[in-house]
Amino acid sequence: MDIGEAKRLAGIEAAKFINNGMKVGLGTGSTVKHTVIELGRRVNEDGLEIVGVPTSIATEKIANDVGIPLVQLSEIDGLDIVIDGADEYDSNFQLIKGGGAALLREKIVAQASDSMVVVADDRKRVTTLGAFPLPIEVTPFAHLATVRALSNVLDCSVIIRMDGDSPLITDNGNLIADAHTGPTISDPIEMEHEILKIAGVVQVGLFNDMCDAVVLAGANGVSTLYRSNGRLSS
Ligand code: 5RP
Repeated sequence: MDIGEAKRLAGIEAAKFINNGMKVGLGTGSTVKHTVIELGRRVNEDGLEIVGVPTSIATEKIANDVGIPLVQLSEIDGLDIVIDGADEYDSNFQLIKGGGAALLREKIVAQASDSMVVVADDRKRVTTLGAFPLPIEVTPFAHLATVRALSNVLDCSVIIRMDGDSPLITDNGNLIADAHTGPTISDPIEMEHEILKIAGVVQVGLFNDMCDAVVLAGANGVSTLYRSNGRLSS
């Protein structure tokens, strides 16, 4: 099975977590896009009644295109579930996210959700987080000072993400600094705290103790892994 088809199947499988009446966080990326499309199909063909909160302008557009009713997170008192992609996950279900530059809205939505399902392919499973450069959203103001501070704290190179010749601007008007830690993040909770102490940091793409299940696509098909003592059960 090619990777595109694996992502599609995982995205559709993850949509099975969604039932009538749910308030659903809609993640960002090329895998969860298939979940959003499948949910739109069920809304239109099966009469599924849900409301969604998108985690990016890109996902908002897809959700609108497929007909999922959307609400503002501020208008409701939390979400039942969020389904989102990830760039890496480890055996404790800790995540690196933000490869699509949507980490701030993704984390706000994940924190407001009663449970979190990640859709991923099996290339994203790692022993130790960090081979994927860790995305960190930073303010444009004094961003090079923030990059220096990050580089000192993390002891690695930190590079502002570009979009062609200019820095990439997030949906929130900020920048993304990618920290090239290498696969060394053995204590992601401690690292998250250290990074968030730096004033110019808006948020970091370490999602700790949030993910309850991973819907995983691989060469042999799709399987779902559940975190022990998580908020979802098989
Ligand atoms: C966006 C993200 C994405 O969920 C992550 O990059 C995975 O995307 P994809 O499914 O396209 O590999 O965190 O900020």
